[in-house]
Amino acid sequence: MALLPIIKYPDPRLHKVAKPVAAVTENTRKLIRDMSETMYAAPGIGLAATQIDVHEQIVVIDVSETHDDLIVFINPVLLELEGTEESEEGCLSVPGIYETVTRANRIKVQAQNESGEIFQLEADGLLAVCIQHEIDHLHGKVFVEHLSHLKQTRIRAKLKKQRRETL
Ligand code: NI
Repeated sequence: MALLPIIKYPDPRLHKVAKPVAAVTENTRKLIRDMSETMYAAPGIGLAATQIDVHEQIVVIDVSETHDDLIVFINPVLLELEGTEESEEGCLSVPGIYETVTRANRIKVQAQNESGEIFQLEADGLLAVCIQHEIDHLHGKVFVEHLSHLKQTRIRAKLKKQRRETL
């Protein structure tokens, strides 16, 4: 297994649109193991392949406190979105920034698991938010793009300054 470098906003590669996974293979499973390890080490509760510069529709999520409830989503599609909820989000690609985003509070998603089997999942609360956040990544969208242009400009300036200070 290997830890993979995570692309940081505002890197243009975060805006690439991920392609569907045509066949779930041993290579897909190896990538999923590396993505999970990278997510847990960060630490984070979700990671999309886009964030490690692989532009395929793969997401890993574990919102449990015990880090033993990994859910793999290959080619995820949101089937139903209901209600709205505001919650504070962060992102491994936008370090140190936490902002309130409005999303659906109940969702139904369909995806394939690491064996290639199709499943459906209904979710609410943190898991629903996380699934929507990660699927956005596959569409080339970062959570800060749900905020006002003024806020986005401030966030970009702050991250550029942070990066200069750590170089
Ligand atoms: Ni993210």
